[in-house]
Amino acid sequence: MTKPTLFLMVGLPGSGKSTRARELEHESGAMRLSPDEWMMPLFGLSDVDGRRDVLEGRLIWVATQALQRGTNVILDFGLWGRDERAALHWLAASLGATAQTVFLDVDPETQLARVTQRWREAPGDTWEMDRDALENWRAAFQAPERDELSGSWTPPPPNGAETWHDWLSDRWPTSIP
Ligand SMILES: Nc1ncnc2c1ncn2[C@@H]1O[C@H](COP(=O)(O)OP(=O)(O)OP(=O)(O)O)[C@@H](O)[C@H]1O
Ligand SMILES: [Mg+2]
Repeated sequence: MTKPTLFLMVGLPGSGKSTRARELEHESGAMRLSPDEWMMPLFGLSDVDGRRDVLEGRLIWVATQALQRGTNVILDFGLWGRDERAALHWLAASLGATAQTVFLDVDPETQLARVTQRWREAPGDTWEMDRDALENWRAAFQAPERDELSGSWTPPPPNGAETWHDWLSDRWPTSIP
């Protein structure tokens, strides 16, 4: 059996992650897990009282089971942090799967135009984002570097964590069965 792939959609709001994730879903037969498709119907908000983290953890738990069964999975999370992505690369490897970071880059003007248009056309699926918020998010985003994007990527766990398992359990407690 060929190794299943865990696709990690990485990018800022409006960069085109969900659009590309839907294409990948059809190209690779992967199961697509997009938190907004759960948060909005459940809570009417993209995040509320930290529940997005709870949901993301549970989606990682589902992803783990699917990968163990040989199914490709797409996590359409955004994943702004390098350590978040490294932990998920480690998780995939520990399950005999391959992780692939799919980075969607977007310049600020295009991003603003896209999120503004999306909000106008489908306000129920998203929320309003202004220029200041987009600037702050861009400053916080850790773009993937070449090593992450080119094949096997196995950085050591960050200071303070013994293992990636510990780090993952701390970041997404609900990802652990
Ligand atoms: N390559 C593209 N060219 C032009 N428009 C695009 C492209 N990719 C996405 N869009 C449009 O930009 C808007 C945002 O795209 P999308 O919802 O895929 O972004 P996203 O990264 O998933 O955002 P979010 O993080 O807010 O979920 C959508 O209206 C989409 O149709
Ligand atoms: Mg999206």
